Amino acid sequence: MKAASDEPVLHGLAPIVLRDGCDCAECRDSASGQRLRSITDLPDQVSVTRTSVKGRSVEVIFGPDGHRAVFSRQWLAEQHSAPEDDRTEDAKRLWAASDFAAGRPAQAWPYYLADEMSRARCLAALLRDGFFVLRGVPCHQGMVLTVAGSMGFVRETNYGRLFDVRVEATPANLAFTGLPIAPHTDNPYRDPVPTVQLLHCLSSAVLGGDSGLVDGFKAAARLRAEDPAAFGILTRTPVTFAYSDATAELRATRPMIGTDPRGRIREVRFNNRSMLPLRLGREGSSEEAVAFYAAYRAFAEMTIRPDLMLTFRLAPGDCVVFDNTRILHARTGFAATGQRHLQGCYADLDGVASTLAVLQRKGRNPR
Ligand code: OGA
Ligand code: ZN
Ligand code: ZN
Repeated sequence: MKAASDEPVLHGLAPIVLRDGCDCAECRDSASGQRLRSITDLPDQVSVTRTSVKGRSVEVIFGPDGHRAVFSRQWLAEQHSAPEDDRTEDAKRLWAASDFAAGRPAQAWPYYLADEMSRARCLAALLRDGFFVLRGVPCHQGMVLTVAGSMGFVRETNYGRLFDVRVEATPANLAFTGLPIAPHTDNPYRDPVPTVQLLHCLSSAVLGGDSGLVDGFKAAARLRAEDPAAFGILTRTPVTFAYSDATAELRATRPMIGTDPRGRIREVRFNNRSMLPLRLGREGSSEEAVAFYAAYRAFAEMTIRPDLMLTFRLAPGDCVVFDNTRILHARTGFAATGQRHLQGCYADLDGVASTLAVLQRKGRNPR
């Protein structure tokens, strides 16, 4: 039994992969394209017994059951490129603040709404750079939900469909004070975490309250380059984030830097307000805890390096949209007596990627 076909036209694909890819009427539903057979329906020892090239198609007869499949030569050639979800660092443009010296990805709301090309460019920026800014979004309550709906679906949480960020008398969250907030991702105490965050500025008549964004993938990649041991610790150590108020009790346990099975950076959870002190369980030693805190400190120092932090000020009508699995956001402090009001909501990256892919299907290719 051969693991891979030595027929050049089959590009070295394993017989079982070819058999799994068969789209004959027995194997796939022609209307939905969905597979009708489960892996346990296929013979255990699939082989290719005969191959014949017919123009742009290749007919394959499989052993041991004589099943017949027809593949296009293009489909066969494509099977060596991985159809990934583009969530890891490999699909991103990692950045430092100076990369946006010529301006941040931004668009005026009326153009974004009216022009599919412009909308596609913004969504492509969100997926590649991790954020974009809309300007001139009408300063109405709830507009942030319209913005989220233009690119995907609102993720409702215990905070509601949207949340207000302004000074409150009895704040349940430091966001609702005038205190500065260090770079963080939101809601790391959820699993799944909201993967997109929107913040729409309704008023900002205060001194301070300026915004900062940091590419958490860039910070993590730098940590990996400068201190690989610390990076490794943060990818392996489970950390619990928690939140509780009168009606909610949330917790999620994940590493601070999430990697995919090939070790590529895929997700950052970083929030000093909601991280519980480390508990390693019975097997963990105090040396491990000390090493974790040193690694955590090294990463935190990376996230506040001035060359990584993009700083700007949200004006009324600005709406910043960012990847909450990657981009850390921050703000400077402001006088709690001043008028500053943001409305925020959450959405998800899979919906954004889908909206972009459907826009691109229409034959337009934004860059
Ligand atoms: C938040 C937050 C930033 C700001 O509410 O999650 O980080 O600029 N706010 O107030
Ligand atoms: Zn088939
Ligand atoms: Zn936040």
